[in-house]
Amino acid sequence: MKITMIGTGYVGLVSGVCFSDFGHDVICVDKDPRKIEMLNAGEVPIYEPGLDTLMEKNVEAGRLSFTTDLASAVDGAEAVFIAVGTPTRRGDGHADLTYVMAAAEEVAQALTGYAVIVTKSTVPVGTNRKVKQVVAKANPAAEFDVASNPEFLREGAAIDDFMRPDRVVVGVQTDRAGDVMAEIYRPLFLRDFPIITTDLESAEMIKYAANAFLATKITFINEIAALCERVGADVKEVSKGIGLDNRIGNKFLHAGPGYGGSCFPKDTSALARIGQDHAVPQQIVETVIRVNDAVKLRMIEKLRDMCDGSFNGKTIAVLGVTFKPNTDDMRDAPSLTIVPALVGGGAKLRVVDPQGQREGEALLPGVHWLDDPYKAAQNADLVVVLTEWNEFRALDLKKLARKMSTPRMADLRNVYSPRDAKRAGFDAYESVGRKGAC
Ligand code: UDX
Repeated sequence: MKITMIGTGYVGLVSGVCFSDFGHDVICVDKDPRKIEMLNAGEVPIYEPGLDTLMEKNVEAGRLSFTTDLASAVDGAEAVFIAVGTPTRRGDGHADLTYVMAAAEEVAQALTGYAVIVTKSTVPVGTNRKVKQVVAKANPAAEFDVASNPEFLREGAAIDDFMRPDRVVVGVQTDRAGDVMAEIYRPLFLRDFPIITTDLESAEMIKYAANAFLATKITFINEIAALCERVGADVKEVSKGIGLDNRIGNKFLHAGPGYGGSCFPKDTSALARIGQDHAVPQQIVETVIRVNDAVKLRMIEKLRDMCDGSFNGKTIAVLGVTFKPNTDDMRDAPSLTIVPALVGGGAKLRVVDPQGQREGEALLPGVHWLDDPYKAAQNADLVVVLTEWNEFRALDLKKLARKMSTPRMADLRNVYSPRDAKRAGFDAYESVGRKGAC
């Protein structure tokens, strides 16, 4: 089957590469010639474990190619996926659909025969119907259907999520489009991964509801964590204790400095807007957004307390700035709120992140980048674990403590325990949702 993927951002590239690995012929299109040049040279513009090897394999097999020429890529395609960005629109929190609609119009003009135009970008309920109108208007003779096919990929685990999904969601209006989508995902059908075929609006809603639910789960445990600290409970025990109830489940119950990333902040805010527009305010989601912002501020106060009430003149080593490990993505990372507050308060910041420096340099001015946690801790007053990279899970805590002028650690991902920290010689250790002091 010939598939065209418009947009080689995170979702587009991972999906395009994985579809080609299913055995389909995939052409990925992007307007940015530098990106296409890079891809054609075998370089992957994003950091995603395993993507480079899978891309190389399928390019070599002749099933995967990259171009800036949308018209030639769409010619003869049975399915055209739109995977362009839907950033949060400034001012009103809505998802900005400019890129999606522009892509739909261009695709319409390039269609040469029946094709299914599939939206992979996360779009508000009703967008696929609008795509249909835009295409029909731009090319009244076009023979096509639209489909909604939201993605549920986690950065850092995207290939595995694509190849072994909990489910694939497909929204269609016709059997013909349903058949094309089924053919595309046949390798997964054959391996018994569930595919949910539904209407357009339900498919669009599933994506928002799933992400908002997960963001709620994290925010719930973060709020419980704050209470645990006050009453002397341990949030890790609480998570385990509630997570073993099958109805709750143990995933997404890790307390931390608040969720970030390219999806949860954007999708919760878009869902809240959709609710307001339809006069059905999503009060839980609105509260989740507010509480998640407050979690980051609570972390700043925790750090201030550890610095005896003021950051001024303190040397602080921050380990991890990406929104989670195994990615170079800094979008809406808690570090973007926390680090500037430390710098603004007069602290000298040393930052270590295995992948974050390239993006982080522009986003976090006034910090000193290092590649070694022990060097960063040299004569420091406080070490903050902000992202749970494996590199930071197995530190020699004794060595780290010895390097510091005042051995104190704020472990905002609960990677270590108060006992580990005490044994290693830390004077103070604080984490999230647990009694901290050594
Ligand atoms: C998420 C969804 O998981 C995915 O299905 C969707 O398609 C895109 O958004 P992603 O943003 O890559 O994926 O990361 P995820 O692993 O879900 O983590 C999101 C944020 O929540 C991170 O900042 C992470 O640190 C935080 N988180 C996650 C917690 O604080 N606690 C948890 O228990 C889980």
